[in-house]
Amino acid sequence: MKEKPELMINGKRTDGRAPNELREIKIEVGPLKNAEGSAYLEWGNNKVLAAVFGPKEAQPKHIADPEKAIIKCRYSMAPFSSLEEHNRSGPNRRAIEISKVTKEVFENVIILESFPGSEIDIFVEILQSDGGTRAAGITAAAVALASSGIPMKDIPYGVSVGKAGDRLLLDLNKLEDNYSDADMPIAIAPKKDEVLLLQMDGTLTKEEFSKGMAMAKEAGAKIVKLQREALEGRYK
Ligand code: CDP
Repeated sequence: MKEKPELMINGKRTDGRAPNELREIKIEVGPLKNAEGSAYLEWGNNKVLAAVFGPKEAQPKHIADPEKAIIKCRYSMAPFSSLEEHNRSGPNRRAIEISKVTKEVFENVIILESFPGSEIDIFVEILQSDGGTRAAGITAAAVALASSGIPMKDIPYGVSVGKAGDRLLLDLNKLEDNYSDADMPIAIAPKKDEVLLLQMDGTLTKEEFSKGMAMAKEAGAKIVKLQREALEGRYK
């Protein structure tokens, strides 16, 4: 492994942010004409497109649930999305894992009983990646879903918290993610502050964990506002 770079210099991060500062986030609703709902999101240098199709009859038929809709989710990184690896596209283990955890987030907020026997397809395409793409993907897919009109209990958001040395950092970029001592992506349904995803790479003490969660929720208030503004802007 390469020598570890300094992640904090004079209290600032390598991209000039304060430890608890989010990257800039921009959200556009409805960029895709053929999707039921869609969103384009820029989160720092991450660029993400999310699209929702359905509800439609579940295929193949044997996977249909007569009581409720099933959710399919595909997270995928474009082959050109990263400077790091330009291997074949298509699902690798990491993409399968992220697809699974993203699907579980939305199974917990979509009112599945509204559409028995059907499926709802969620696609998250990472066009450009710079760390934290699962959180960005969830944030974008939540807006895409809301814009599709599919009934949901809440509009979740994702964000990550990590640690460099003994310092907690909000919203790690790729460099920070590579060299951090801990990285914890989180997804939350804000109405009840319900945690829908929590993963952890590395370790945090109990105290760091609580502080990290508080940081994530504080950032969440800003992310939720941007999601709402994007959705309201669309329907004004
Ligand atoms: O993106 P996220 O932080 O949710 O997931 P990760 O698996 O912790 O990956 C961290 C970052 O590494 C990603 O955001 C990408 O920027 C980068 N990465 C990549 O460039 N190529 C891969 N095959 C996997 C990850």
